[in-house]
Parts: sequence; C-alpha cells; structure tokens
Amino acid sequence: MIVLLVGSGGREHALAWKIAQSPRLTRLVVAPGNPGIANLAEVRPVKADDAEGLLALAREIEAELVVVGPEAALERGLADGLAEAGIACFGPTASAARLESSKAFTKTFADRWSLPTAAFAVIDDPSTIDRVLDRFEPPYVLKADGLAAGKGVVISSDRTEAARAAEEMLGGRFGQAGARVVVEAFMDGEEASLFALCDGKTAIAFGGAQDHKRAHDGDTGPNTGGMGTYSPAPVLTAEVAEAAFAQMVEPTVRGMAVEGSPYRGVLYAGLMIGAGGPRLVEYNARFGDPECQVLMLRLESDLLPYLHAAATGGLAALPPPQWRDEVAICVVLAAEGYPDAPRTGAVIEGAEAAFGPDVLVFHAGVARDVEGRLIAAGGRVLNVCARAPSLEQARERAYAAIARIHLPGGFHRTDIGWRALDRQG
Ligand code: GLY
Repeated sequence: MIVLLVGSGGREHALAWKIAQSPRLTRLVVAPGNPGIANLAEVRPVKADDAEGLLALAREIEAELVVVGPEAALERGLADGLAEAGIACFGPTASAARLESSKAFTKTFADRWSLPTAAFAVIDDPSTIDRVLDRFEPPYVLKADGLAAGKGVVISSDRTEAARAAEEMLGGRFGQAGARVVVEAFMDGEEASLFALCDGKTAIAFGGAQDHKRAHDGDTGPNTGGMGTYSPAPVLTAEVAEAAFAQMVEPTVRGMAVEGSPYRGVLYAGLMIGAGGPRLVEYNARFGDPECQVLMLRLESDLLPYLHAAATGGLAALPPPQWRDEVAICVVLAAEGYPDAPRTGAVIEGAEAAFGPDVLVFHAGVARDVEGRLIAAGGRVLNVCARAPSLEQARERAYAAIARIHLPGGFHRTDIGWRALDRQG
C-alpha cells in the first residue's frame, strides 16, 4: 500500500515508525516530515496545513491511503478533496472535524445527543457577557470557539478577569477562532485521553493515556501542548473506559452519521473523571501529541489495516487491536522559553545514539543545520519514550536516556506518571 502521512511532529514520527513496520506497506511518503522521519520514509516539503499541496502530492504518488496527523488541513477540507479524488483518508471531513474545530458545535452536539459534559452557554455578542456569566459559578471557564493553538482557554475565579478575557476573545485576540466564546461550568476530577477509531458507522476502542499539560513538575507553570504521557493510565479503568465509550463515543459516531457528517479517523475524547464518572471536556479529530507516541509503543497489531479500515468503512470486520502487556512513557524535552517564546537553533547532542530496543527518541521540533547537526526548531523538541513491564522501569529507562541527551537551555519534567505512582501508594 502506498501511504502519505501528513505532519512533522513527534506524533507523526511515532506513526511513521509504526507504519514502516507493516508488511502491507510498499511506499511511505511523509509531508513535511522531520529528520527522524527522514530516516524511515521519503519526506516531501509540503506543509501540513497546505490542503491543496497535500492533495496534489497524494495524486502524484498515487497514494492509496492518506493519514493526517494534525488537524489544520482537515479543517481546510483535505479529507473532502481526497474523497472527491477517490483517495482513502484517515481523518474526518471539514464538517465532521468541527468536533475539534468548533467548541460551540461540540457543546451543542453534546446537548442534542445527551453526552455527559458540563453545562455551557455560547456568547457571540459582547453586550451579553455579564448576563451569561451571571448564570455560572466561579471558577469561570472560557473557551474560544475555534482552533487557537491550545491557547484559547481561560479559567479564572475573578469575575472581572473572566469578563475581560471574554471581551478580548470576542474582540479578535484569536482572530475568527474567538468570534464565539463558550462559557462552561467548571469540572472537577482527573483528566485522561481516550481514543477510538471510527469509520463513519463503527467505533473501536484504541487505547488511552494520561498527559501532563503544565510545563513544570508538580503540575505548575503555564499550559503546554503536553510535556509527557504514559499508557495505560490507571485512572482510565475498564469501567470508566466502557462508560465513556457507551455514553460519548458511540452516540457521537451515531449522531454525526444521522446529522450528515459521518466521522472517519481517530476520535480523541479528553475526559474529566470525577466521582460521577467520566465527562467530556473536548473532542479532537486527531491523535493526541504526545499520547500517540505511547500508544504506538504499546500497539502489538499492525497499525495499517486499522487506519485503512477506518478510512474505508471496514472496522467491524477487524479483530480488536492487540496491545503489549507493558507500560509506555514519553518525556518531552522542550526548548528554553517554551511555551511562551521557545529559543530555536540550539544544537542537540546525543539524540541519535542507540538506546536499546525499548527506548525510542522521536523527533518533534527538530531540523538539521547545514553541517548536518540536529538543532531545536520548535518548542517541544524531542520525545524520549520507553516501555517496560512496570511504570517505574519505563520511567527509569526514559530518564536514563534523557540524561544522555544534551539540549542547551532545554528542560523536561521529572515527574511524568506521578499520579499513577501515587495511586500505587
Ligand atoms: N496532548 C494534548 C493534545 O494533543 O491535545
């Protein structure tokens, strides 16, 4: 099978690593890729949000399957264009991708299909901010409706600050993404990420993980795209995962089909797990990053048949995916200044050493300079991943590897997996 994979981060390096192992693969092209991906596949310089360029590339290489990592090209209709061209796409159409690209759509959809989530209201007129906030208790949760690079959420107990944040969003702080603002009741509990593969009709469970969103140890510092993950996450018990699947994922796939936007690809449910069971925080139309990395380390089955079946409607005919009975962990090595002003250009040393069969270093914000050296080219630079029979051992392996890598000014969290270890007592 000829596959075009879209993206350039650690998530796509992990997907490329797994897809490259498939006996069904005949050619893997990645756009735009990164230096680590270039060791596994052909890379082409088409940007991950350039829907037209990607469509042309898929035609040129006669792709039989396009696997879309990040959401930007989906929102711009890449899956729609591929469908018209008769090319299978792992990733939803622009209309189905509204589950990620519009929070107001998702909340109103959740209301129509009775998904467990927080009470909400949508503001599109600044003159109604106070009236809407009156209906909520602090802390106030405000979310820009559209894609805002993970920066569109404000949580504040201060009423004046919350009103100002809503005004700024509506005033254009996030451009069109903030033209509507969702106000939500605060949800208490522990967060986890649940994944399902969907083919428009059928959804199958595809693992779970727990991310660490804050930049520094002890869940302090600014919010980031994710500083590390582990899988499986004990908070996602079989009971919680089954409840989330039955109460959210299945009605979502059914509802999207009924409403004329059948959902194909991976559905990533961000959950808040509290005393009353799991509730939906948000949906994403892509694999989590760095959740995907730990899922790929644990996945025993060939990934390609699952991606192809999700794209073409054959998931019900496949056996459940098999997972290694091991724990996988991912520790993100970030550039100095991340997330506010990451410093790029620092030369990375030691990342290409051999670390052993159960340790993998995926490239994220990485490039090669003219001398062929690896340099930091983004905020999250490397994903140092390991798997082992226990979380303690996986942590030891990952942190031993990270100690051998040098990124001037770089930093990482030293407590990935702390919640799971706390539970063990
Ligand atoms: N790690 C969180 C995300 O991918 O959105």
